[in-house]
Amino acid sequence: NDERTFVMVKPDGVQRGLIGEITSRFEHRGLKLVGAKAIQLDRELAEEHYAEHEGKPFFEGLVDFITSAPVFAMVWEGKDATHQVRRMVGETDPAESPPGTIRGDYGLDLGRNLIHASDHEDPGSNEREIELFFDDDELLDYEQVT
Ligand code: CMP
Repeated sequence: NDERTFVMVKPDGVQRGLIGEITSRFEHRGLKLVGAKAIQLDRELAEEHYAEHEGKPFFEGLVDFITSAPVFAMVWEGKDATHQVRRMVGETDPAESPPGTIRGDYGLDLGRNLIHASDHEDPGSNEREIELFFDDDELLDYEQVT
């Protein structure tokens, strides 16, 4: 049950210089990095990525925020990667996230929650998000040494 999952350090994490801290956690856990790039999202890509939130009161602010500075987009591979990454990320609200999770260790603000990760309760969201952000030839094939 090796699978790939989509993860993105949001603008607050990039601006605060937390890309290294965050990616280290996934490396140390034993997940394999198969894609990574820093990109500036335009509104069109942001709205497509967050389509499920369209119409919600926080939608415009969310699109403003996610396009406000670059993001660091990644694909991680491993056993139950989607579920395991979500456990490491914590709850949507950093204030509700336990210490030891990424959001619980680095944040307190719901709208500035540092990181996006595909939802393991939404089957197929991982593959959908990977396709939205990465071309096939941007994904790497190599042997991991553990
Ligand atoms: P995430 O779950 O990664 O993607 C949607 C984001 O919307 C969520 O993180 C929050 O950062 C943001 N958001 C802002 N306000 C709310 C809210 N009231 N409820 C849920 N998410 C919110």
